[in-house]
Amino acid sequence: MAHVAFVALLFLLLVGHCLGGKVGICYGRNADDLPAPDKVVQLIQQQSLKYVRIYDTNIDVIKAFANTGVELMVGVPNSDLLPFAQYQSNVDTWLKNSILPYYPATMITYITVGAEVTESPVNVSALVVPAMRNVHTALKKAGLHKKITISSTHSLGILSRSFPPSAGAFNSSYAYFLKPMLEFLVENQAPFMVDLYPYYAYQNSPSNVSLNYALFSPQSQDVIDPNTGLVYTNMFDAQIDSIFFALMALNFKTLKIMVTETGWPNKGAAKETGATPDNAQTYNTNLIRHVVNDSGTPAKPGEEIDVYIFSLFNENRKPGIESERNWGLFFPDQSSIYSLDWTGRGNVDIMTGGNITNANGTWCVASANASETDLQNGLNWACGPGNVDCSAIQPSQPCYQPDTLASHASYAFNSYYQQNGANDVACDFGGTGVRTTKDPSYDTCVYMAAGSKMSTTNSSNLPVQSGFSPSRFDKNFYLLFSMLPIMIAACICH
Ligand SMILES: *[C@@H]1O[C@H](CO)[C@@H](O)[C@H](O)[C@H]1NC(C)=O
Ligand SMILES: *[C@@H]1O[C@H](CO)[C@@H](O)[C@H](O)[C@H]1NC(C)=O
Ligand SMILES: *[C@@H]1O[C@H](CO)[C@@H](O)[C@H](O)[C@H]1NC(C)=O
Ligand SMILES: *[C@@H]1O[C@H](CO)[C@@H](O)[C@H](O)[C@H]1NC(C)=O
Ligand SMILES: *[C@@H]1O[C@H](CO)[C@@H](O)[C@H](O)[C@H]1NC(C)=O
Ligand SMILES: *[C@@H]1O[C@H](CO)[C@@H](O)[C@H](O)[C@H]1NC(C)=O
Ligand SMILES: *[C@@H]1O[C@H](CO)[C@@H](O)[C@H](O)[C@H]1NC(C)=O
Ligand SMILES: *[C@@H]1O[C@H](CO)[C@@H](O)[C@H](O)[C@H]1NC(C)=O
Repeated sequence: MAHVAFVALLFLLLVGHCLGGKVGICYGRNADDLPAPDKVVQLIQQQSLKYVRIYDTNIDVIKAFANTGVELMVGVPNSDLLPFAQYQSNVDTWLKNSILPYYPATMITYITVGAEVTESPVNVSALVVPAMRNVHTALKKAGLHKKITISSTHSLGILSRSFPPSAGAFNSSYAYFLKPMLEFLVENQAPFMVDLYPYYAYQNSPSNVSLNYALFSPQSQDVIDPNTGLVYTNMFDAQIDSIFFALMALNFKTLKIMVTETGWPNKGAAKETGATPDNAQTYNTNLIRHVVNDSGTPAKPGEEIDVYIFSLFNENRKPGIESERNWGLFFPDQSSIYSLDWTGRGNVDIMTGGNITNANGTWCVASANASETDLQNGLNWACGPGNVDCSAIQPSQPCYQPDTLASHASYAFNSYYQQNGANDVACDFGGTGVRTTKDPSYDTCVYMAAGSKMSTTNSSNLPVQSGFSPSRFDKNFYLLFSMLPIMIAACICH
């Protein structure tokens, strides 16, 4: 029966997950040491991520996402805006060569035309709307204008004022391209896309913006908007509402706001004291919770907001200050810099204010209360369909002693947990797994930790002990029943 409970819980979590705002990841490639796109796609799937933003239409990358179920946002870089704005035929050719051959196997759902044009060193802002229109025409000819949404991303620098949020206003110098763009977005039911960085607000003005406020910490001092009386507990909401009020001032309040980049750097220059893995983990953890819970913002409570976290990898070729190259969740060797609970529903014990109590990671072990049968089932599952390398708990291997079910189950549960995103779903095991902030490693038995390399033993020359191989029946049972909720959730989500 524990299996059924486990499956039911998984089902609830998965369905619950797809009801909230969506959380995606930005896959930037401004680096010379990243894994090949197919490896990256595997990593993305291991993390169960379903929404990915890329910055161009690189064919190898687009191909790698084929038949993965991942929804892809692709981009037209600013350097292509001139040819895209000049001739419709340029855009038709691009669509024919770069998108159509790979669609719909690769599920492209958004095209961003231009990125933060107001920040571009070359003035391309007058080209962006004509380019968007040409992309729309090309999609229409291909019958895809209802399937693929066109927009363009902006930095918060498009506002002349963002504080207090109710005074949010677009810089009137940009009206010449912004007005027609907003009209285009309304016509095509496309969202207004913005890249938001509370990190910079804090880093540039630590005396006015507290770290707690930037990190969504419950200990932060509330900020009250004197015009509306709305209470802000975090910078992210304040930034979104400043955009909302700016849109409202121009009579575009029905436009949906989408956050196409946000995040926190894990490392920075000496003076960038806020750029640490702990703060990055805190920001992104709290962000995901906020989004998945549909908390909305003070001006629009309960509003669904989709966000893309920047970024998948540290990118060594980005120019600028140290933090620029260190926004990643992963090192280029695919080890994680810190763990993230993508479900947004994990235990709330991860942080206390701006401080993380388990800065060095979490582990998953067998509950002291679990029955032998449940533990054995969980162990069978982890070492079987769960794909865990259980060689370390075989006789004469480092984690064989103590030779108890609880000890062996703990080892296997933890490996499964670390390999599957270290979130609380991955430590369920029918209620027999519990998360801990204490490293369970002892002597030479090393438990896998977030970011550690996959396996410490060489399994190819070990005997396989039958006691730990689940029977055929078990395997099929688990495969069938563990896939069911995923299949049902996939139907409900789409
Ligand atoms: C950019 O170009 C547009 C149109 O060509 C012009 O109106 C605008 O003033 C320019 N912006 C800057 C900052 O030079
Ligand atoms: C508005 O944009 C113009 C052109 O980029 C810039 O020179 C000006 O400083 C901006 N104004 C404000 C208040 O940010
Ligand atoms: C920070 O606060 C001080 C004092 O209230 C004010 O003079 C300054 O303009 C503020 N800086 C920013 C960036 O808002
Ligand atoms: C989720 O939202 C509800 C109501 O909007 C709120 O009471 C609750 O505290 C939120 N939970 C988290 C974890 O933020
Ligand atoms: C975080 O920890 C440091 C050092 O232990 C402490 O000085 C600081 O007050 C803590 N901050 C919060 C918000 O608890
Ligand atoms: C975290 O790891 C560092 C270095 O490995 C160690 O010095 C520190 O004591 C650890 N902190 C905790 C809370 O375990
Ligand atoms: C284990 O059982 C005890 C007593 O029955 C209970 O108080 C405790 O909460 C249980 N622990 C877990 C992790 O379920
Ligand atoms: C594992 O053992 C095999 C056979 O002894 C050997 O060929 C291989 O190089 C080993 N691999 C590692 C990673 O040690």
